[in-house]
Formats: sequence, C-alpha cells, structure tokens
Amino acid sequence: MEKLIYLDNAATSFPKPEEVYTFMDSFYRKYGVNPGRSGYDLCMEAGELVETTRKMLTEFFNGDDPDRLCFSYNSTDALNLIVSGMLQKGDHAISTTVEHNSVLRPLYHQQINAGVEVDLISSDEKGFVDPDDFSKKFKANTKLVIVNHASNVIGTIQPIKEIGRRCRERGIPFAIDASQSAGKLPIDIEEQSVDVVAFTGHKSLLGPTGIGGLYVRKGIEIRHSRAGGTGVRSAVRTHLPEYPYRLEYGTINTLGVAGLHAGLSWIKQRGLANIHKHEMKLTTMLRDGLKEIDGVTLYCQDDLTDHISVLLFNVDGMEALDTGTILDVDHNIACRTGLHCAPLVHEQLGIDKIHGGVRFGIGPFNTEEHIGAAIQAVGEIAESVRKRTAGSKQNARSQREN
Ligand SMILES: Cc1ncc(COP(=O)(O)O)c(C=O)c1O
Repeated sequence: MEKLIYLDNAATSFPKPEEVYTFMDSFYRKYGVNPGRSGYDLCMEAGELVETTRKMLTEFFNGDDPDRLCFSYNSTDALNLIVSGMLQKGDHAISTTVEHNSVLRPLYHQQINAGVEVDLISSDEKGFVDPDDFSKKFKANTKLVIVNHASNVIGTIQPIKEIGRRCRERGIPFAIDASQSAGKLPIDIEEQSVDVVAFTGHKSLLGPTGIGGLYVRKGIEIRHSRAGGTGVRSAVRTHLPEYPYRLEYGTINTLGVAGLHAGLSWIKQRGLANIHKHEMKLTTMLRDGLKEIDGVTLYCQDDLTDHISVLLFNVDGMEALDTGTILDVDHNIACRTGLHCAPLVHEQLGIDKIHGGVRFGIGPFNTEEHIGAAIQAVGEIAESVRKRTAGSKQNARSQREN
C-alpha cells in the first residue's frame, strides 16, 4: 500500500514531531504520578513539568502570570468554561458566523437556557468580518465578544487586533478561539488587546489529543462553572477562587501536558514564522494548482495574505463526501469533507445544501510532492466528472435523435 498523504492537519496534526512521541514515552515511564497531590520527589518533579509548560504557554501568548494559564481537555472545553463563566441572564454576547460549533453551541445553550442575547456578525464574501460591525452592536450589557482567530473551513485570519482595540476602548472582554491559529500565528494578548485565549493542544501546537487550555488576562474574571478536587486546600467546601485552580478540575492530563511541552519546544526551535512560511508556500502551490483545474470551485482564496494553510473546494457536479472518498480510496489522500462543525460558513457560501466542501489542511510535515499528488488527484476526479457529464449529454442527444 502506498504511503498515506495526510492533508487533514486542520482536524489534528499528524504525524507529530518525533520528539513529542519520545518525550511523552520517557516522561510517562519516569514521572507518571499525580502531580500536585503529594509531596514526594517524583510528584514534585512531575509538577515541575506542568508548571514549566504553563510558563512556556504564558510566554507564548505574551501573558505575565503563569497561574492564569489553565489547562483543559481541548479548546471546546476551554470555550465552554469561557462562555458559561462569563455570561449570565441579562447579558449580551457578540460573535461571528465564521465560528466553530464549539463557540456557537455554548452560545446557543446560554441563549436558550439563560436568556443571553447573542448577535452574530457576518463575514464578507471573502470570509472576513469587519471590526466596525462589532462597534455597531456594542450595548451597555455586552459582556463578551468571542471570535475565531483563524477559520478551520476557509482559512481566513480575522482582524483580532482591530476588534480587540474596539472592545478594550469600551471595556468589553474579548476572547479568541485560537484552535487553528496557536502554533501557526503569533498571538500577543498585549499587542492584540485580547483578554482570553482558548487553545487546543493537538492541532498546530503539535501535542496529543486531550489537552488544551485558556489564558485569562489579569482583570478578567471567569466564574467557575464546575467544582472538584484541586489537590490543595481540600478543607474548603467550595471550589477554589484562585487561578489556575478556579478553572481546573480534577487530575490534569499530565501526559498531554508533556506532549504539549515537547510540541511547543519543537515549534520554538523551528520558529513559528518558518513553519507558517513553509505551510503557506505549499498552500499557495495547492491553490494555484487547483485553480487551473476546469470544474473545481475554490472558496475564498484570491489573496492568501491573511490566511492559514487550509483550503476549501468542491469538484463541480460531485458531492464533497464522494470527492473525499475517491481521494482516500483511489489516491490514498486523507482530507476532511462536510460542514466541518462550522455550518454558518457553509450557509454563507451557499454550499450547506450540497453537504459542504472538501478541505485540505496542510501541516509542517507536508511536502511539495504531497501537494503535487493532491493536485493531480483532484484533476483526475474533475476530468472523470467532465467525461461523465459529456457522456450523459451525448446519450440524451442520441435518444432524442432516435
Ligand atoms: C476553529 C476551531 N474551534 C474549535 C475547535 C475544537 O477543537 P477541539 O476539538 O480540540 O476542542 C476546532 C477543531 O476543529 C476548530 O477548528
């Protein structure tokens, strides 16, 4: 069997750097105890890795207090903590139509169950939201603006700095969903006026699944929406108010933290800008190749300046799922098809009724050969559709003439 060409990095990065596998293996063999729960040396040493990783991530987002970096299971988990801990009855929240369901559904949940008012800003035809549209929606009871930094569907990077500035001027907390951007793009909460960052470990941060988190800037308070063991001050009857315990519940995924630590170290060593440059070079090559194919529709990729390495397309006359199946079965190329948990993007593109699009997500380990093979495969699929369409037109004509 030919080697799999993995172009589904927007779902999760694969493979991980070799260092991630080896570090996780050696860490768990040596320090696989419960950190922060007891005082023996091994436990303290395991805890040290957790605290070092907190520091690394805090620095990564240009925060100033590692205690305000809280670990969660993934960004969905972090986003739920944000939405449920920052909104309550009578509040108003603003978000966008480019959001993933991990923002939309917690918001709808608050809307239905707590009567929170939600406004969604639509993106333009290129997939960008206008920061001024947020200002127009600000109200006295606006308690949260939450925006997807980079789209998992069309790859557009939203102008978070401009949105953040407008929020800061009005004293409205601003949170970003950095699921797709963390590990691809610089995130500087000071420069970009971001109050809360939600991230996931298994995508571009190159860690394993099951680890993510959020950074909460000083001055922003998120109410705890769960409660449980923290390993410290066990006699207190209510959940602890101090960070990171306020937003951490039960035993941390230490093995996940170890993998994230190794992933971050790998990124730091390579340089974020170099990784992004490599991925965007391949993305441009892929976009240019797909653009040349007769019978392929690309969505939102005229200009790749404010873009991450995600491309959405369809082969005309073919359902996305079928294209994906042929790519898999006949060409050994892994991609994702469908609505990608972001239904409103597809509604806006007018492809929700044809079950969405085909997404290629390029990662640090993809090569020009992978991209060449993907272009060739899509070209062959489009050609077969053209032949089939021409054949059926010919049949229809012959039947009419007979
Ligand atoms: C933009 C965006 N937000 C949130 C998520 C959810 O990430 P996770 O499944 O790791 O919680 C994803 C994952 O695809 C995403 O792309």
